[in-house]
Amino acid sequence: MKRKLHVYGNWKLHNKIRESEELAKAVKEGSVKYKNKVNIGVAPVYTSLINVRNILGDNSTVKLLAQNGYPKPKGAFTGEVSFPLLKDAGCRGVIIGHSERRHLFNESNELISEKVESALQTGLDVTLCLGETLEQRENGETWQVIEKQLTSSMFHVPPTYREKLVIAYEPVWAIGTGKTATPEQAQEVHAQIRNKLEKSWLKDTSEKIAILYGGSVKPKNAKSLFEQPDIDGALVGGASLDPESFLKIIDIASHL
Ligand code: 13P
Repeated sequence: MKRKLHVYGNWKLHNKIRESEELAKAVKEGSVKYKNKVNIGVAPVYTSLINVRNILGDNSTVKLLAQNGYPKPKGAFTGEVSFPLLKDAGCRGVIIGHSERRHLFNESNELISEKVESALQTGLDVTLCLGETLEQRENGETWQVIEKQLTSSMFHVPPTYREKLVIAYEPVWAIGTGKTATPEQAQEVHAQIRNKLEKSWLKDTSEKIAILYGGSVKPKNAKSLFEQPDIDGALVGGASLDPESFLKIIDIASHL
């Protein structure tokens, strides 16, 4: 029996408020039958968060997530949004350390670590993203890179918060490229992550932490990924913008 799978949609920089509302409505309606079967979440842009929250309502089956946040609660940080403000807007979780943040906005492991701590202390669940570039993979450095990202960003997390973490392995070369890691390639890294969690924390804790795969997940490849023993669901980009595809991926997750 597998862990209850997660299917999270990262809407990235897409959708005006009206479009986000329509997408949220469709996802909410289509998700009713998966209540208690799949952990579902959506991460709209900041400007749509409150509207999407109002569509989803309190304690919805579909969890509202933010795509990023800033570790200081308030102050002179022009252009940033803190975790307490995201919670106030209705978010129940946040994505941290997405590769687009790491590579396009130069976010370091140190900053990501601060964000993880601040978000957890605020009471948000954290989806921490990890992943290697194509060059790193070709140089045989995949595990070295992932291990560094893992140890620097989350091993300081105190035991009470650990189960509020979700990990998303997203190989950079598979994001938005249509190239998916093969189920075996993804499983290999997921098993290494699980093993590291088990060695650093307790087996019991490591088994409770969901490790999602992200990178061109579509209805056509979801099943073979979800069948892998250490793949606990997906962080979906492009396919989460189309309610039909996103709900199909959720449906596949509900049957495993
Ligand atoms: P795609 O599914 O569009 O490749 O994006 C993956 C991703 O980055 C999810 O966070």
